Amino acid sequence: MGGKILKRYSPMVAIDVATKDAALALFDQLTVEPRPILKIGMELYYHFGPAIIKEAQHRGFKIFLDLKLHDIPNTVQRAMFVLGQLGVDFTTIHAAGGSAMVAAGAQGLRAGAAAAGLPAPKLLAITQLTSIDEKVLHNEQHVALSLVESVQNYAQLAEHAGADGVVCSAQEVRAIRQVTGSDFLCVTPGIRPQGFAKGDQKRVVTPHQAHVLGSNAIVVGRPITQASDPVTAYQAIEKEFLTEAD
Ligand code: C5P
Repeated sequence: MGGKILKRYSPMVAIDVATKDAALALFDQLTVEPRPILKIGMELYYHFGPAIIKEAQHRGFKIFLDLKLHDIPNTVQRAMFVLGQLGVDFTTIHAAGGSAMVAAGAQGLRAGAAAAGLPAPKLLAITQLTSIDEKVLHNEQHVALSLVESVQNYAQLAEHAGADGVVCSAQEVRAIRQVTGSDFLCVTPGIRPQGFAKGDQKRVVTPHQAHVLGSNAIVVGRPITQASDPVTAYQAIEKEFLTEAD
């Protein structure tokens, strides 16, 4: 990593559950040190709104609010202004919306946080979803670039437009770092500890591999939320990711 020490965050636990009770049960279980960052996505947020974020914040969690905004710049700016007031720590936007949209989103987010007297959340851009493969890229999006070139293009676009980082596969981190600054964040889902079923994730890496590949933070859902003991599962993953690899 060129001698530069990477900023590493505690693992982000994806709280992909359908009910408030299930979410609260996980929040209560995961009140350990260092606290995980909780990723709240569309399902929970559309059901329960800012109230579910407050429940987590009361328990001392930092929040990654993953709503992947994508609309015209004015609409995204206004929506991000609202999200900036929630006191979350990370949120997401689609780089495919273009540089004007990402810039408007970044501006709205920072203005919303400032209006509420809060620090600005980190804005993470979605490059190509991991559900998009080369075939879809070429035959449906009619993009002539390779998948990795398209990811690099979107990462660069997002950084120039004011995003703080991207959500990407750990296997893309090195390619992204070739075209972005050293502080640009790479947050990586698709994590599976050794021996855990891949489920619907296609290209997975272990927490240790994510560390070696240079992820700033890993997003882990089912290996923690569906474990018989989520706390032990989280702590093992946290240790594996944050411990310096030999
Ligand atoms: O359960 P699992 O560990 O597969 O959960 C991963 C989380 O990361 C889910 O919330 C999923 O939506 C999210 N995610 C992903 N791949 C991306 C972007 C987000 O798996 N490219």
